[in-house]
Amino acid sequence: MCLYCKDKDGGLVGDYKNGKYLKIGLLGLGTVGSGVAQLLAANEDHIAQRAGVNIKVKQALVRDINRVRPMDCVVPLTTRAEDILDDPETQVIVEVMGGQEPAFTYIMEALKRGKHVVTANKDLLANYGKELFAAAKEAGVDIYFEASVGGGIPIIRPLKDSLAGNRIEKVYGIVNGTTNYILSQMDQGITYEAALQQAKENGFAEADPSADVLGLDAARKIAILASIAFGARVRAADVTCVGIKDLEPLDLAYARELGYKVKLLALAQEIDGAVDVRVRPALLPHHHPLAAVDGVLNAIMVQGDAVGEVMFSGQGAGRMPTASAVVGDIIEVAHNISSGVKGRNGCTCFAAKPFCPPHKVRSSYFVRLEVQDKPGVMAKVAKAFGDAGVSLWSVIQKRQTERGAEIVIITHPTQGQNFDQALSALQSFPETFAIHQPMIVEGDEAYVAGHH
Ligand code: NAP
Ligand code: HSE
Repeated sequence: MCLYCKDKDGGLVGDYKNGKYLKIGLLGLGTVGSGVAQLLAANEDHIAQRAGVNIKVKQALVRDINRVRPMDCVVPLTTRAEDILDDPETQVIVEVMGGQEPAFTYIMEALKRGKHVVTANKDLLANYGKELFAAAKEAGVDIYFEASVGGGIPIIRPLKDSLAGNRIEKVYGIVNGTTNYILSQMDQGITYEAALQQAKENGFAEADPSADVLGLDAARKIAILASIAFGARVRAADVTCVGIKDLEPLDLAYARELGYKVKLLALAQEIDGAVDVRVRPALLPHHHPLAAVDGVLNAIMVQGDAVGEVMFSGQGAGRMPTASAVVGDIIEVAHNISSGVKGRNGCTCFAAKPFCPPHKVRSSYFVRLEVQDKPGVMAKVAKAFGDAGVSLWSVIQKRQTERGAEIVIITHPTQGQNFDQALSALQSFPETFAIHQPMIVEGDEAYVAGHH
């Protein structure tokens, strides 16, 4: 049936007109959950038209029933999960409570009871995706999870559906808004600590922002994207992860002077049948599309063998952008139910693939050193790289620090193990005062030119 057909009075036909309801249960009514309730209410008719059925939140699970909720979100509340899970009328469970437990148990119980699940929980997907998809398959229902990566940005379904005909070569991008905001502020010369404080005051960073600044949030998201892109299970623990907390405004200033922007890059690529997946602070050339993505915005680039490179960008978090993704998934479930299709959004991890050992992956590196300012030190530094088989692309020494000389180096592409060997040698020199957080250089072919 056409979802948008009108009868002769101009009204809509079908389940929507007949007053049928798809009843959903929300597990959580915080930032995202209240946004979902608000969006379903605000766009009720429009959503019913698109879904072919009215959608109603029957109940929401919360921890604290007395907490003051937004005025635009009037939903019956419960503190007992079984009120929702055992309700035969509730066909779809929307998990927006976060964390691993009890969210995992509740989702598994919902699946066992034959309920479809929509979740925004990257922590669960990136750690227990295998178990969740197996349970959904056994129960003949679906799990949708668009909001788990990139907030309001459509990326999961484009990867699973629209780009399914491609062999995906690489997925990379900025998938954490908090760190992107902090780095954008540091690019203006503000310290990491002050930028983090601003992020908290603006409500971007959580009270405990460690998952963001250590790169763990980005690791969960790139694990989910890599699992879909390469058809093989990637868990958060498989992601090599370095965060931003040891960066200084000076690193960003040097990068800027050299023509780069610093971003926390989540990257997954397939190299000779093995998966390389990592989160690292990275220098991107100013002309790179991701270099222009500032503040809390997110952006993800996908490189496919047929499509070439495509970019998805927008608001990667927040109440209404994230609700937009969740409601899109609910509508998709409504379509599946009305057309009697089950298990359409099944697991896409068809194969087991090895991971590239991090020390074997080739990258170009940026590193800032503080060393004694005396004859022979620069030669010793250069020899440490040369002995490790690392070729230098750019070397700058122009500033005295309180301790000595500051040297900023960008290498030609080299294996991680060669770069680490050079750093170990530098570390052992009595002339070395400090080796600051190294970063990779991405998306710039300039340093490769002329390299043999
Ligand atoms: P939140 O504001 O902290 O809301 C969590 C909700 O779950 C609250 O309503 C809380 O109840 C309820 N809850 C938590 N633990 C519970 C428990 N054990 N029993 C009963 N209720 C419980 O979290 P959020 O920011 O909406 O995030 C929800 C999920 O969406 C997370 O998985 C997060 O990673 C994901 N996500 C969030 C964003 C974002 O921008 N916030 C973006 C993308 C994805 P009370 O209200 O009573 O405390
Ligand atoms: N903490 C995340 C971020 C938002 O800063 O992007 C939820 O994914």
